[in-house]
Amino acid sequence: MEEGKGRKIIMFPLPFVGHFNPMIHLARIFHHRGFSVTILHTSFNFPEPSHYPLFTFQAIPHNNAGGEDPMTQPDASSMDLVAFIRLLRQTYAEPFRQSLAAEVGRGETVCCLVYDAVWVRNTEVAAEELGIRRMVLITQGVASFCAFAALPLLRDKNYLPIQASRLDELVTEVPPLKVKDLPVMETNEPEEFYLIATDMVKGANSSSGVICNTFEDLERLSLMDISSKSQAPIFPIGPFHKHSDNLQPMMKNIEDHVTTNWLNKQEPQSVIYVSFGSLADIEEKEFLEIAWGLRNSERPFLWVVRPGFVRGTEWLEALPSGFVENIGEKGKFVKWVNQLEVLAHTAVGAFWTHCGWNSTLESICEGVPMICTPCFTDQFVNARYIVDVWRIGIELERTKMDRKEIERVLRSVILKEGDGIREMCSEVKERANVCLRKDGSSSKYLDKLVNHVLSFDSYALTS
Ligand code: UDX
Repeated sequence: MEEGKGRKIIMFPLPFVGHFNPMIHLARIFHHRGFSVTILHTSFNFPEPSHYPLFTFQAIPHNNAGGEDPMTQPDASSMDLVAFIRLLRQTYAEPFRQSLAAEVGRGETVCCLVYDAVWVRNTEVAAEELGIRRMVLITQGVASFCAFAALPLLRDKNYLPIQASRLDELVTEVPPLKVKDLPVMETNEPEEFYLIATDMVKGANSSSGVICNTFEDLERLSLMDISSKSQAPIFPIGPFHKHSDNLQPMMKNIEDHVTTNWLNKQEPQSVIYVSFGSLADIEEKEFLEIAWGLRNSERPFLWVVRPGFVRGTEWLEALPSGFVENIGEKGKFVKWVNQLEVLAHTAVGAFWTHCGWNSTLESICEGVPMICTPCFTDQFVNARYIVDVWRIGIELERTKMDRKEIERVLRSVILKEGDGIREMCSEVKERANVCLRKDGSSSKYLDKLVNHVLSFDSYALTS
């Protein structure tokens, strides 16, 4: 399809894996429709352009004239996430404006800027100065976005900050969420967190359109809610990564083949795949409880332990000596996997996840039941929907996570036939497939999105 031929879309992802991945999938979708795509990227976490040969990458320099990159200073990596995002937004505000202007000045026809909802203010002003239309990408689910939108109201009603005595209380303003499911996080800068959340919602509302990595049949009520409150048109075109078999596959590396070989030796639906995404970290004590719980469950497991995942350690050194050897071929520890491939493998029986939105959607698409241990913000909302609304997983709360409870959950109904969860997983997976068909809602929204983007008064520099 060539509708976008001769037109460029400029993208500005937030430089975290859970935000970058959906932006890249979206870039592939636009490219498939004929658009050329330029990705403006921060010097922090700069991607390897050779992995994405379809796109042009432009690095945005940091604004510390002549000095070191503030994002790569040792104290930056140990900051809390909210402080880190504040620093990101400050560091790249002016350089982004200059990079965007330079990009527009290249003379190609620029349709619009697509940017991560978290960037907001910096991007709004810069795009408006240059007369470029702004489209916002929401990388989280729409239910959690609606919960973010409700935060000011929930603060006024004294649900926040969360009180330990009210954790199981239903929040009637955002059912089915309980107080413990509200999308907050531990931070030293709570006001900055609320500012980011409210900015994000305002920025989306005032944009030329909001692109969501979800599908209508999954989040229909939340989509109705957001549509009724937003002036911007909403395009739920997800799951992005499943859009077309014709899209060029992602790069693979040698470790992926080793993992696949191990999975090939396991019984169908026997393996617990454990991963808490790209940002969450845990205490050493929690790590040991998980390790013993996995071992005692006697289930085969594939566990992604990112370097830095266990606070204060490099990798696995907190495990008792001989632990890994004792597990042998029964369990596999890896630093990173190709998660899409792992979830699609027939050996995987359940996904123990932190419920990041990408992980949630990826699991849904492969019909894999989830064990839900949310860690922060939207993950709490996603977990509630997985367990109580879609009924495709069970809860394993982080605060109750000791080795006995873990063993009990891993041995429990989730891996057995007839408990209803696996059947619901198949049903929800099928709903995703239907949305992606030619006449399905996500495909129709994608056609609308392409027409919408083409309808913008294109900006072409007449140099
Ligand atoms: C973050 C937030 O935590 C999440 O809640 C939000 O919705 C998006 O940003 P993250 O915590 O990294 O993301 O989780 P998630 O959304 O699940 O994204 C992780 C991505 O990394 C997924 O696309 C997953 O496939 C990929 N991944 C993870 C791998 O490819 N390999 C791994 O070993 C682990």
